[in-house]
Amino acid sequence: MSQTKWRSDRLSQLGSSIFAEVAAWKLAAVESGLDIIDLGIGSPDQPPTPAVRLALSDAALRSDMYAYPATRSGLPFRQHAAAWMKHRFNVELDAASEIVTLLGSQDGLAHLAMALCDPGDMALLPNPGYPIYAASLALAGVECKLMPLREENGYMPDLDAIPDEDWDKATFILLNYPNNPISTVADLAFFERLLDKARQHGVLVVHDLAYSEMGFDGCEPPSILEVPGAIEQAVEFHSLSKSFNMAGCRIGFLAGNKAAVGALRELKANIDYGVFDPIQEAGIVALQEAISNTELPKAGKLYEQRRNIFLDALRTEGWDVAAPKATMFVWAQLPPMQWTMDVPWTSRRISQEMLKATGVVVVPGEAFGSEGEGYVRIALVESEERLQEAAQRIGRFIRGQ
Ligand SMILES: Cc1ncc(COP(=O)(O)O)c(C=O)c1O
Repeated sequence: MSQTKWRSDRLSQLGSSIFAEVAAWKLAAVESGLDIIDLGIGSPDQPPTPAVRLALSDAALRSDMYAYPATRSGLPFRQHAAAWMKHRFNVELDAASEIVTLLGSQDGLAHLAMALCDPGDMALLPNPGYPIYAASLALAGVECKLMPLREENGYMPDLDAIPDEDWDKATFILLNYPNNPISTVADLAFFERLLDKARQHGVLVVHDLAYSEMGFDGCEPPSILEVPGAIEQAVEFHSLSKSFNMAGCRIGFLAGNKAAVGALRELKANIDYGVFDPIQEAGIVALQEAISNTELPKAGKLYEQRRNIFLDALRTEGWDVAAPKATMFVWAQLPPMQWTMDVPWTSRRISQEMLKATGVVVVPGEAFGSEGEGYVRIALVESEERLQEAAQRIGRFIRGQ
């Protein structure tokens, strides 16, 4: 009898197995009785505002909210997304044709290559990069060319180092600023250069702006769509997950070029029936509040305070880490270890040994691509007290105590 495997080879190409490994290390640490401080996954630890939660529960009680969302136009959410884009970035969008609602931006990112490319096409991705980018290409049979993001270039891609033949072959180039995992930001001058280059070669620019409301030290991360004429050449992903603490309430949107937005909408019309209407109602309230309530602190405020406290505490412990400019992540070069093992200290080895010894979960940089080796990513998703406690435990680990 022939062996049936019931598992596609494609699954093995989906992202790094390191996340599963980290989960297994964590489980073992829990079983060994350690008190876990999980700074692994970037899921906000705060709830949405009371008004957002009320909108969700009110809508959930309505009897007319349980049809397939696709049976309605879904236009109100998109209109509010357009109003917010105008308010926040001064970008004008046609809600009907230049915005598509997503079940979180992950949904759009996962399906993007399938909507835009054919098997054998090619796209340019950052290394390190958020894992779904490469997974989306693997699902669609699209070739991936990686652009290294290195410290010597300010963690920006060297656009002129990409060979012309790659620019000519690429369907799209995907970038993400504020960046996960690196936590750097881009300015409009960079986006202008990127768009010029992309225009010369007929390449679509895809920008992932999931962390738009998480700039620190007064930084307001820009939208690529602010560049005049960008809509001819670009689309941008937005997420309510981090901006409004709605990660479990799956909603986001893609905005920009009509043809690319339309392609994703057409693909999704064949795959899902849209975002649960009460979630759309909650999303509308989150966007309305952001527009009308100038007193409402931005999501980044909390993480900026945590960054300051955590980095100070780490410095006291002898680990001096570069300060992130945005997001909820610290992208840290490996600590100055004061003891040795029989194998070299890699990002994976340090993360594993640190978790075993301290109960503090961090993600090895290698999980985001080969350029992530030499770093760990630390998510600021615990209280200030717990972050200080984590820093002290890490200090003892570095000293081998
Ligand atoms: C860079 C980036 N893009 C997209 C997402 C997906 O966000 P969501 O699907 O919750 O909108 C994340 C989540 O962590 C992210 O870090």
